[in-house]
Amino acid sequence: MAECLYEGKEHAAAYLKYRVAPHELIAKILGYMEEKTAKPFKLAVDVGCGSGQGTTLLAPYFTQVVGTDISPAQLEMAQANSNPPNVSYRQCPAEELPFAAGEADLVTAMTAAHWFDRQRFLQEADRVLRPGGCLALLSYTLDMELEYGDVSGTLTDICEEFYAALLPFRNPYLGPSSTLIYKDMFDSCLYPDKEWDECFRLRRSLPLNGYIGMVETFSSYQKLQKKDPAEAERLSNNTRNKLLSAMGASSPDTEVVVVVKYFYWLACKP
Ligand SMILES: C[S@@+](CC[C@H](N)C(=O)[O-])C[C@H]1O[C@@H](n2cnc3c(N)ncnc32)[C@H](O)[C@@H]1O
Repeated sequence: MAECLYEGKEHAAAYLKYRVAPHELIAKILGYMEEKTAKPFKLAVDVGCGSGQGTTLLAPYFTQVVGTDISPAQLEMAQANSNPPNVSYRQCPAEELPFAAGEADLVTAMTAAHWFDRQRFLQEADRVLRPGGCLALLSYTLDMELEYGDVSGTLTDICEEFYAALLPFRNPYLGPSSTLIYKDMFDSCLYPDKEWDECFRLRRSLPLNGYIGMVETFSSYQKLQKKDPAEAERLSNNTRNKLLSAMGASSPDTEVVVVVKYFYWLACKP
């Protein structure tokens, strides 16, 4: 298991404020389950749930949804949220889930499984899933793009400089590519019924500051901020100013479209 920088309350709060809720991917998961497995859908477990943005999206489809996370700060934030009555949270490692064998209809991890001890987590997910239950892992690449009028290409170039400056602060546990981590996990899953989607683009209109805020929640940015807070702030301000100048705008509240490139895999336990 990697050291994961999600303990601080400020980080947890920023996470809740800026991360994008992946409604479209929840629809993919439910579509897959409808096709592959019998109802009723009683229990969904969202592992590494963070502040619960993805967890609550599952509530309409399951009798009970439990978000689990190792970080008390993230869970405190999740609990302070307005949660549907069938959603609850538990603190535990992803590799030791507090559920009986065969109890879960769905185990999911959204932008979290790369931090886990991946083989132990896959074994644990297999233990708690019922036969016919589904596993859904999703995440996204950090190279989000921006769209704004006819300067989208220029904005994306500026964003790439931002990501390149953060690259040296990427946790070595994650290796060069998160996509590869998930593909390796996918390949190691022995369920015959499984599918992999390498790029699913999710578009969201956000204030420019919301985009900067999202990048600031990345673990690489958090690492830089811990090491050199002034440099982290300079980098954010510099990027914001370059983007505004290319857009011909003055307010960081100007709306841009952020394109987040998700990848995911789905599998059904035989
Ligand atoms: C990038 S956040 C994703 C949060 C949420 N799923 C979302 O999509 O917004 C990763 C989360 O995984 C949690 N995490 C990391 N390693 C973990 C582990 N071994 N067991 C349980 N949770 C873990 C972190 O505390 C953090 O809340």
